[in-house]
Amino acid sequence: MTAPQRKRALVTGAAGGLGQEIAVQFAARGCAVAVVDINGAGAEITAARCRELGGETSTIVSDLTQTGVPERAIAAAVDAWGGLDILVNNAGYGAIEPFLEMSDALWDRTLSLNVTALAMALAAAGRVMRAQRSGRIINITSPASRMALPYYTAYAASKAAVDAITRSAAVALAPFGVLVNSVAPGMMDTEMQRSTELDLARVEGRNDLDTFLAERTRRVPLGRRVEPAAVAGGVVWLALDAPDYITAERLNFSGGLDRD
Ligand SMILES: NC(=O)c1ccc[n+]([C@@H]2O[C@H](COP(=O)([O-])OP(=O)(O)OC[C@H]3O[C@@H](n4cnc5c(N)ncnc54)[C@H](O)[C@@H]3O)[C@@H](O)[C@H]2O)c1
Repeated sequence: MTAPQRKRALVTGAAGGLGQEIAVQFAARGCAVAVVDINGAGAEITAARCRELGGETSTIVSDLTQTGVPERAIAAAVDAWGGLDILVNNAGYGAIEPFLEMSDALWDRTLSLNVTALAMALAAAGRVMRAQRSGRIINITSPASRMALPYYTAYAASKAAVDAITRSAAVALAPFGVLVNSVAPGMMDTEMQRSTELDLARVEGRNDLDTFLAERTRRVPLGRRVEPAAVAGGVVWLALDAPDYITAERLNFSGGLDRD
């Protein structure tokens, strides 16, 4: 029996939160992992965790919102390893702004990372995978994409765009055997979630933060938040284990918050 081929994965936004867990779980499964993030110190921590598990890593510190950077990150991984089997578009940004006080600066920042950078990385990886005739791409979306969120509209709209891009990409890449799916995590207590909920409490005039957070948790049908490591397990399953007839799918990992 021949040994299973080592997979080569690139994870954006892998310096912390969900992205770090995804990178570490890929390393635990024997994958080579390219860690891409604007936060160099965090990216190094992720790479060190991957190496402890015996994984080969490459760290790419860059701001994905700059023109040409997503494509260069993909090219760097392909140069290092001769190809790319998995792309996880995980890097994301969101901030609270009341609907009637929205700023174009927040829309630009949100869309340039969550939408444009994701689409450019996806197309660059898609070209590599088209030539290979194989590959799997997973985009991180959010239950927010289908909710009415008057304080979080730019973020919700950006994730609705991720859903649209996932559908288009799945169809564009299907003839080449490349699968494109998404994962919608529920509430994970990461850096992003913490700062968002603090701001939300402030704009809603809530000083009772613990009660506010508990109320939000109770809205999840399963009645609890989810660990990033659990969601990462779903991403890794789609990338390495899921049957190869699943594409254009959205895996809801939100404890029943998202039911479609
Ligand atoms: N936390 C939640 O509850 C939740 C829920 C649903 C979806 N999500 C999504 O999950 C994904 C991961 O979020 P998280 O909660 O782990 O957040 P996080 O803030 O912990 O991680 C985001 C990562 O992206 C990196 N990043 C930000 N701007 C960048 C840029 N310009 N270039 C390169 N890297 C950049 C950050 O440095 C960070 O490491 C995001 O797409 C987010 O929208 C999170």
